[in-house]
Amino acid sequence: MFLGVDYYPEHWDNNLIDDDIEKIKKMGSNIVRIGEFAWHMIEPKEGEYDFTYFDKVITKLKENDIKVMFGTPTATFPAWLYKKHPDIVLKDKNLIPAEFGGRRQYCYNSKIYREYSVKIVSKLIEHYKDEETIISWQIDNEFGHEGSDMCYCEECQAEFKVWLKEKYKLIDELNNRWGTIFWGQTYNDFDEVPAPLPTITTHNPSLKLDWARFRSDSLNSYANMQVDLVKKLKGNFQTVTTNLSGGFFTKYYDHFENTKNMDFVSYDNYPVWGGLKEPNPPFVTAASHDFVRGLQDQNFWIVEELMGAQGHDVIGYLPRPNQAQMWAYQAFGHGCNNMLFFRWRAMTKGAEQYCYGIIDHDNHTGKKYEEVKTFFNDIQKYEDIINSKIKSDIAIFYDYDNVWSWLAQRQSQNFDFSTELIRSYIPFYNMNTNIDIIPVNKDIDKYKIVVMPVMKIVTKELHKKLDEFVKKGGILILTYRTGIKDKDNNILFGKQLPGYFREMAGIKVSDIESLQKGQEVKIAGKGEFSEIEVEVEVWREILEVETAEVLYTYTDGLFKDKACVTLNNYGKGKVVYIGGGVNPKALYPVFKKLVKKAGIYNNESEIGLEVYPRELNGEKYLFITNHTDQIKKFKNITFNAYQSQIIKESDIGL
Ligand code: GLA
Ligand code: ZN
Repeated sequence: MFLGVDYYPEHWDNNLIDDDIEKIKKMGSNIVRIGEFAWHMIEPKEGEYDFTYFDKVITKLKENDIKVMFGTPTATFPAWLYKKHPDIVLKDKNLIPAEFGGRRQYCYNSKIYREYSVKIVSKLIEHYKDEETIISWQIDNEFGHEGSDMCYCEECQAEFKVWLKEKYKLIDELNNRWGTIFWGQTYNDFDEVPAPLPTITTHNPSLKLDWARFRSDSLNSYANMQVDLVKKLKGNFQTVTTNLSGGFFTKYYDHFENTKNMDFVSYDNYPVWGGLKEPNPPFVTAASHDFVRGLQDQNFWIVEELMGAQGHDVIGYLPRPNQAQMWAYQAFGHGCNNMLFFRWRAMTKGAEQYCYGIIDHDNHTGKKYEEVKTFFNDIQKYEDIINSKIKSDIAIFYDYDNVWSWLAQRQSQNFDFSTELIRSYIPFYNMNTNIDIIPVNKDIDKYKIVVMPVMKIVTKELHKKLDEFVKKGGILILTYRTGIKDKDNNILFGKQLPGYFREMAGIKVSDIESLQKGQEVKIAGKGEFSEIEVEVEVWREILEVETAEVLYTYTDGLFKDKACVTLNNYGKGKVVYIGGGVNPKALYPVFKKLVKKAGIYNNESEIGLEVYPRELNGEKYLFITNHTDQIKKFKNITFNAYQSQIIKESDIGL
């Protein structure tokens, strides 16, 4: 197990490095990450490479038995490169180029930037490929973050036309599939097809989705060019990864395609950042980990774990005592198996003076240092459990074509994909079940329950996979707008909604309505759920029952007693259809019944106390984290504010 810290020795006088390394080691670290922004340090002038400084740093780390993850420095190119080739930077939709001075300003399709990237990365890897202190290479830093996933520059526009020609071969194929007859947009040639630059009204939905796919391919082609290069040159004992930022469903790149050729996925875990007055809810952080784990269906690294308040211009929320440690425990509970805290010492100069780390500007080892030291000492006792594989019976499906289709047309002012996915994650989270969040191309036979939130675009193949899953006894949970579109981002013709799923769900959608802020409606439960009344927001559908049972009905006006949530028996399985942005409180009892029927392991716990299960050699372990500043109890155990424990179930008589 690797435990350590993100270290930037180049930020400090050389006379600090020995003391730093001694303290980093005393804290219990056996790894540091360095170098991900050090292109100019290594190549101060074009073609002049100088590794002297990092050679010295690595020698000192080696003398202290501290391993290294080294970042390829392509997220921050040197000013001399920008001066010589200003056209390497990305351009926004108004064709304004990004100015030098921030980071991540480069265009993924810039041929010149790719050439310089190959040169610097080749030199770096060739220099250190036999250095056994360097055990892993981080490719770039947070691909696509801070708005760097999008570029409209002339090179991208030209590449897009090539991309379209390769996809459609004939321009009439494109015209037909895009419906360019509409508004007289029929093209005679691919070179007439625009990128979705600002226009009057709005662009063609098929164009918008293909542009999103092109953006994803552009970023991932750059990333995989580096991955292939590093894998070709590196020592075979060295691994390859990249560090994902958050906001997985707001970015224009497929994270599965981005990471599938890497040895493992790494993630930067910031439950709170910038001006947020309080952290993300625990289930949002939990779902982030479950998404990261789901990319390669294996445990992952966290290479930036929050320890201090973070922010560029506005400083964020101050983690309470043990709260940052608790978030670290939660991460390990969800499949992290190696962790580095972000950053050793807060920098006094540059854009991140307010991104605090373990050591503050006073350079004293204080309570945060002790918190990390305690954590490192404790967590390594559980290495075997932490390396065990999480086996979930529940999976939440997503598909980036669908995510980008929603980004292109949100249909309701309040629609947000992540919010809608989390809406069906919360009830299972509150039952403390393991949950996988995975791309639709993954196998589902190992699951008992599959949730497919707001999946507008459904192919015949996906429908067939789900049909077989349910017929064999699986439980499928669908939500609103399921199956209304095809892969060209166009609405199915002649199909009563929910399209392919009408028979499976045992309902048809008779009316649809987007709900704006303040326009929420209410639903009331039927039968065993009759005590429950909740709000529906964002969207609603009026369902007509064919073979399904009604669980919740609307209470308003002309739609009173019309169905909103239904349950249908289909083959040996069941299908739940949720016809709107239903408050998870109404879903909890429905999902609880299904979890029980499916025999899925779960635990009741007080809200705010997470009890995430793990299994090793037939023994069940519970990663229990108190996300509140109140005393919480689980069975006969008391948890103080932000306290965490890893407990063997049999030790507490469960
Ligand atoms: C991100 C980046 C880091 C740093 C931190 C600050 O995770 O990867 O370089 O900017 O945020 O919180
Ligand atoms: Zn570009």
